[in-house]
Amino acid sequence: MTEAGETLAEKQRIVGSAPAGASDRESAAKAVREMFTSIAPRYDLLNHVLSFNIDRLWWWRTARRFDAVLQRPNARVLDLCCGTGDMTFALQRRVRGGNAKILGADFSHAMLQLALVKGNGRAAAMETGSAPALRWVEADALRLPFPDRHFDLVTSAFGFRNLADYDAGLAEIVRVLRPGGECGILDFGEPRGLLGAVYRVYFKKVLPAIGTVISGVRGPYAYLPASVERFPAPHEMLSRMQQAGFAKASWTPYTFGVAGLYWGKLNP
Ligand SMILES: C[S@@+](CC[C@H](N)C(=O)[O-])C[C@H]1O[C@@H](n2cnc3c(N)ncnc32)[C@H](O)[C@@H]1O
Repeated sequence: MTEAGETLAEKQRIVGSAPAGASDRESAAKAVREMFTSIAPRYDLLNHVLSFNIDRLWWWRTARRFDAVLQRPNARVLDLCCGTGDMTFALQRRVRGGNAKILGADFSHAMLQLALVKGNGRAAAMETGSAPALRWVEADALRLPFPDRHFDLVTSAFGFRNLADYDAGLAEIVRVLRPGGECGILDFGEPRGLLGAVYRVYFKKVLPAIGTVISGVRGPYAYLPASVERFPAPHEMLSRMQQAGFAKASWTPYTFGVAGLYWGKLNP
């Protein structure tokens, strides 16, 4: 039996991120945190170069999907695994004069520091106008420091796939959402057909090579395609969301399925 009372067999059945060398949830989470900390200084540059800037469109589309929630008076919004904050800023931009409280959370201090600096820069440049102030919290998505039924919306862009246990991640999201609350998980997918074949060459060969050169770190950009391959297919992820408690769940492919948005809503 393990510390948490699970048998080894139960532990091995857990579906979640598994960076090379990690043997359990704790070591997987530690490896993920260290990996993002190691690439933090080059993370934004690499993101935009490797995605040909389409990442901006994906964040915008995701934020737009939640326009109604974002305009609600006193809406509480959590952007989980916020990294350097681009999804969080996209949400902030969609608030039209409301007083939504938007919080970005991540367990990598280095990524969060960059989000803070970018957020301060945006505020100083008055780009945000009357947009709500953002807050940043260092927190593990599997042990969120928030009460039950607290948020109207939880989002996560390209972060959820890195959790060491997807079901535990979904359970934590459901726990902190209010009744009727919504969730948006934006992540990579695996496009099919001819485009899929071409994309796979890019994603598995070209991207890790460029990523390694620009970041100066080898592991993370080999881990990326492996983690996408390991991530549940849309039908499985939707069934996991339903099992976690979402009354409604759907998947919308973005850019031919290179990425996609999982949307979930709890019963009111
Ligand atoms: C690929 S980055 C995505 C950052 C940002 N959301 C974006 O769209 O660019 C993944 C982020 O998830 C964070 N992360 C991974 N596992 C986490 C966990 N268990 N708790 C909190 N943050 C986590 C990492 O530190 C990293 O900053």
